[in-house]
Amino acid sequence: MELIVGATGYVGGVLCERLLAEDRPVRALARDPSRLKARDGLKTAKADLLAGSGLKRALAGCTTAYYLVHSMERPGEDSTDFIDRDRRAAERFADAAVSAGLERIVYLGGLAPPPEAPLSPHLASRLEVEQILLDAVPGSTALRASILVGAQSSSFRMLVRLVEVLRMLPMPAWRNNRTQPIDERDAIEYLARTPSTPGASGLALDIAGPDVLTYGEMVERIAESMGVARPGLGLPLTQTPAASAVVAALTGQPVELVRPLMESLENELLPRDDSAQRIYGLRLHRYDRAVEHALRQWEKGEPLAAR
Ligand SMILES: NC(=O)c1ccc[n+]([C@@H]2O[C@H](COP(=O)([O-])OP(=O)(O)OC[C@H]3O[C@@H](n4cnc5c(N)ncnc54)[C@H](OP(=O)(O)O)[C@@H]3O)[C@@H](O)[C@H]2O)c1
Repeated sequence: MELIVGATGYVGGVLCERLLAEDRPVRALARDPSRLKARDGLKTAKADLLAGSGLKRALAGCTTAYYLVHSMERPGEDSTDFIDRDRRAAERFADAAVSAGLERIVYLGGLAPPPEAPLSPHLASRLEVEQILLDAVPGSTALRASILVGAQSSSFRMLVRLVEVLRMLPMPAWRNNRTQPIDERDAIEYLARTPSTPGASGLALDIAGPDVLTYGEMVERIAESMGVARPGLGLPLTQTPAASAVVAALTGQPVELVRPLMESLENELLPRDDSAQRIYGLRLHRYDRAVEHALRQWEKGEPLAAR
């Protein structure tokens, strides 16, 4: 049995479909299981990582747990920040996993900036959670990714919404920073294959798409794919605090989510090496194909005003 922690979230939801399609027995952990669509082969477990409730039952009989949790979406009821909440959630889960004798945790976190660059609070928190999980269960694997290109990915949605609503795109100084976004289908493939990939055990691996792009180029290619002209207006400064409030208002996303994501754009986020691709032997989708696929998926569920 494989446990998906964070099954009501974006990555957890897509992974759940993927594992069920392979007839793998899945248990979905959620604070509110009534939010999960009933499907053949899917068992659910009610648990809350912060309260520590329900974890023993959720983990019983599981060999692998996918840890796909973060809590940036909204301010904590106990007025703590997301860093503190995500640390406590990971510690509670790690303790429960050790007690249950779990074989491996598969975690998806973020790419780390180069050592000389400052770590954003968001990325520092992702790495802290990774360390907690890998230390607790040594057979675990952490996959580190930049932006996932998918219809429900909050960071991709933020970029698409900006292209939709703005005729001219103000581009702060981070427009020239480079990264390697990954197609959602490839990130899910890496996750799904991890338990049957012994070479990945005990490692933190960078997973990245084949194209190196600046954030400015990423947005331009989204506009091209949507068939709209959106001239970029280069701004000399980063201006993240003010810009994140504006972006949150324009895109309808909570500022608690937008601000840490935008802070993470202030550095280059590139993989350290291509060992993940060698270990898993995956053929990866190019960025333009990933965008086209994500926009098609998006339009199945809701209209895109600019397309
Ligand atoms: N999206 C991307 O582009 C991207 C890129 C790179 C890495 N990642 C990584 O992928 C992972 C998943 O991200 P995502 O985009 O799928 O996030 P998401 O959609 O915000 O989902 C987060 C999940 O965490 C759950 N959660 C939060 N606090 C919890 C608690 N106390 N107890 C139980 N569950 C709790 C949420 O449950 P509720 O529904 O109950 O709130 C939700 O299911 C994260 O580690 C993220 O860093 C994502």
